[in-house]
Amino acid sequence: MHEIETFKKEHLRLPDKIYILDTTLRDGEQTPGVALTIDEKIQIATKLNNFGVDKIEVGFPASSSGEIDSARKIKSLGLDSTIVGLARTLKFDVNAVIDADLDYVHTFIGTSRLHRDYKLKMSKEDIVQTAVEAVEHAKDHGLTVEFSAEDATRTEGPFLFEVYREVIDAGADFIDIPDTLGILTPSLAAFLITEFKRNFKTPLSVHFHNDFGLATANTLIALECGANQAHVTVNGIGERTGNCSLEELVMSLKATYGYALDVDTTRLYSLSNLVGRLTGVKMPVNKPIVGENAFAHESGIHVQGVLNNSSTYEPISPETVGHSRRIILGKHSGSNAIRSKLKDYHIDLTDEQFNKVFDEIKSLGDKGKSINDDELVSLAVNELVAARETPILLKGLGLSSGNGVSPTATVRLEINGVEKETASIGVGPIDAALNAISSLIQEDIDVNLEEYNLEAITGGTDALAEVFVITSDSKGNVSTGRSTNQDVVMASILAVLDSINKLLLIKKSTFK
Ligand code: KIV
Ligand code: ZN
Repeated sequence: MHEIETFKKEHLRLPDKIYILDTTLRDGEQTPGVALTIDEKIQIATKLNNFGVDKIEVGFPASSSGEIDSARKIKSLGLDSTIVGLARTLKFDVNAVIDADLDYVHTFIGTSRLHRDYKLKMSKEDIVQTAVEAVEHAKDHGLTVEFSAEDATRTEGPFLFEVYREVIDAGADFIDIPDTLGILTPSLAAFLITEFKRNFKTPLSVHFHNDFGLATANTLIALECGANQAHVTVNGIGERTGNCSLEELVMSLKATYGYALDVDTTRLYSLSNLVGRLTGVKMPVNKPIVGENAFAHESGIHVQGVLNNSSTYEPISPETVGHSRRIILGKHSGSNAIRSKLKDYHIDLTDEQFNKVFDEIKSLGDKGKSINDDELVSLAVNELVAARETPILLKGLGLSSGNGVSPTATVRLEINGVEKETASIGVGPIDAALNAISSLIQEDIDVNLEEYNLEAITGGTDALAEVFVITSDSKGNVSTGRSTNQDVVMASILAVLDSINKLLLIKKSTFK
């Protein structure tokens, strides 16, 4: 067995049951600038429930009647997840949780000297008494009680232990340690949790903030040291730099620790997107698990590896979290990646054509641009068009008009090697010619002329006409065509055929 695997087996011990308490709707909503409507909270709570978190902290009912309403509505959905309401250690706050029909309260009070002296202006004794009274009040009303000593990690050890001992005696069912300012390191977290587990038998929870980017690491080590529950938020949103991220914690537990957590990880990406959309807090592209680059590859060596076996450069497969793999074409791309993409689109280029596309991608990359799939198809189609591998060629054109007769165009086309001819009338010779083309190609493609621009690029009676057109097909493919000719009808026909030929090549290549 691999050395790391042996180490994992021997040293990584986790509790039999790890509870996940998601606080996206409470601490996450405290992200500066975020406010969710009741309907939005319901959408997120439902998705969290379907994903499988044990508990959802839905808000702070005492803070507004809207918060009571949304908590009550979410509770009335009858979800499997336990619905939790936040409360200061005040009867008023606990009563608001009861008013919202919830049966689980998360009650807290600041315990550090800074909070005692500058925020609460309370003595240690008053803090203990207030905490105990709130827990007793909640227990008297049949609630399950989780207690947090806010700013626990900056609270003097003996006082912190005294507070927890007292609330446990008063009936607290869970004790939670908030690292309110995210100042823990993994080794400090390990020390703290080990001490707590030595002193208390009550189930232990952790609520770690991310001010130094350590929230997930600290939460993992806390669980390794015996913590029974982790507070998390989707996308790691929350006060300031946020909380331990749900997706990072869950996937670390499942994929790196091999822990059997009963959640549906395939819902993670869409959960992250929903929260990003409703909160307006967009994820950086390099956000672990759910960022747009989490499964994106550009460099030739990586793409080659991933195409042969995705595990070479992906620790988990994108499908595991409902995400998808992206091969990005840019300055670091190798020819294999480009060939493989073209193959996906059924585009067959000669070596010479391929090298031109390859060089173009590299030169765009040097200008700081990467290429998406549509742009690749368009580059390849341009090469096919330039090589005259065009399905439709103009073989003949005859025009007649005047003497009260409608303008008529007779058009002869070679379509995939077969010559066809027809005559059509129109409001003018260009219209008649385009009608004839439409009727000749109707079996092959259904084309709309979206835009037609005619410009004379030199003056005089022998002026050159330049025609630019945009056409589309019934599948929504769009392409441009351009032609310059002394004959305006001829320029129009050739521009339209140029555009239709590209549409046919796109259609053939993408099977849209
Ligand atoms: O970070 C914190 O201390 C909190 C408390 C309300 C538990 O969110
Ligand atoms: Zn918090």
